[in-house]
Amino acid sequence: MNTSTQSAARSGRPLRTAPGAAALVGTSFKHEHRAAILEDGLQDGFFEVHAENYMGAGGPPHRALSAIRERYPVSLHGVCMSIGGPGRLDAGHLARFSELVERYEPALVSEHLAWSSHGGTFFNDLLPLPYTKVTLDRVCEHIDQVQEAIGRSMLLENPSTYVAFASSTMSETEFIRAVAQRTGCGLLLDVNNVFVSATNHGYSASTYLADFPLDYAGEIHLAGHSEQHDDEHAPLLIDSHDRAVADPVWALYRDVIARTGPIPTLIEWDSQLPAWPELRAQALAARRIASDFFRNNTSETDTYLMERASHEA
Ligand SMILES: [Fe+2]
Repeated sequence: MNTSTQSAARSGRPLRTAPGAAALVGTSFKHEHRAAILEDGLQDGFFEVHAENYMGAGGPPHRALSAIRERYPVSLHGVCMSIGGPGRLDAGHLARFSELVERYEPALVSEHLAWSSHGGTFFNDLLPLPYTKVTLDRVCEHIDQVQEAIGRSMLLENPSTYVAFASSTMSETEFIRAVAQRTGCGLLLDVNNVFVSATNHGYSASTYLADFPLDYAGEIHLAGHSEQHDDEHAPLLIDSHDRAVADPVWALYRDVIARTGPIPTLIEWDSQLPAWPELRAQALAARRIASDFFRNNTSETDTYLMERASHEA
């Protein structure tokens, strides 16, 4: 990413790729891939790390991340901020998160629309929240607090969910749009999460995406999911990040890119890691889809250029 795209990211303006430039794609950074990435990485790529893995003062994790950061933009992805939790944000955690932002100057900073801690106890899961006026106020308050602490805007990621709340008074897309409008944060659209939630709850992923406020999207996640069945033999998808991106998720991604143009896109892969070339190939598949947008859509390119010019004015 060049200087202007870095500053666009900090300001919350969605990053978009200029026609002719390589679409920004990346992968999770896992230490098992460190040597291979440094040897034969991802041209014009970026790498994403979970902030919580780098909250110690030094040692091998920081040495590895520093080596990557010298060569690539990084995306700092928080997992434990508990943005959607009922309590106050953990001040110590927020301070450690802010120190990482200052230390690595990530191109992208993101967290989840979920909660994962309560009363000082941290859970291993990203837990859902009901979408109400009360939770909207609280999430906005938490995002304001994070953005104030890090001195820049963050991206908020849509969750994968397995249960829904009868107490919700608005849809997830309405809730997310309101958060972005009120706080000025950007959005991290996880297309696999959309597919997982839609399948589990029995609604259309395409309809969800038609309602999603894509104008705020500053990053896209793609990932693999596993398939199970619930007690009534209905399909139950788990957001497992342990395999390649599924074909229906690629199809949804292609639809999104056709509407937005290229958006920085990251392949998440967190367990049962493949060899680096396989993960890299997934990122390059995303780049091909993004590149197709410019190859196939001359008129959209013109529209894009006009919109970009007005954004940057
Ligand atoms: Fe994600």
